[in-house]
Amino acid sequence: MNNLTLISNSPEESLCMACRLGSLIQRPCRIALSGNLGAGKTHFVQGLARGLGVPDHIYVTSPSYALIHSYEARLPLHHADLYRLSHPDEIFDIGLAELMASPAVTVVEWAERMDSTEIFDIRIHIAIQGENQRQIHAQASGLHFQDLVRSWQQVSRPA
Ligand SMILES: Nc1ncnc2c1ncn2[C@@H]1O[C@H](COP(=O)(O)OP(=O)(O)OP(=O)(O)O)[C@@H](O)[C@H]1O
Ligand SMILES: [Mg+2]
Repeated sequence: MNNLTLISNSPEESLCMACRLGSLIQRPCRIALSGNLGAGKTHFVQGLARGLGVPDHIYVTSPSYALIHSYEARLPLHHADLYRLSHPDEIFDIGLAELMASPAVTVVEWAERMDSTEIFDIRIHIAIQGENQRQIHAQASGLHFQDLVRSWQQVSRPA
């Protein structure tokens, strides 16, 4: 199993789901986030940050203008938003390629702006299904991250 689909019925539920994934991450990891404007990518990173141990008083905001925000946590967290990327090669200019090779958790919104998303360990697509409903689809590469996604599914099942 390297695919997982979760349904979230509220922003809070999405935060919890992402927080649980963040709590499970123990190794450097590259996560691609895709989905339309307003799907909940930034929201997801906010939950993930909590699970990784970014303190509550640090507000995780969209790096749309800065392109990359970094936070201290159990593993450094780098949050990139490539919506404004004009050319795939710009990931080198903004230092993202280097960050993705570093021992950190790197999460990239609008990852589809890159040449290829093959490099990512986990690819998450969020689809809008209704005003408050989102479908979160995750696909992992490699045994370690497939196990991680399986554990995420287990802790995400309703009691
Ligand atoms: N189940 C849900 N999960 C996540 N967000 C939801 C949900 N239901 C409603 N929302 C709303 O959807 C919006 C998601 O906004 P967010 O900024 O996270 O989207 P985004 O995918 O990062 O958009 P952009 O492409 O502009 O960066 C928020 O206003 C949030 O309250
Ligand atoms: Mg966003």
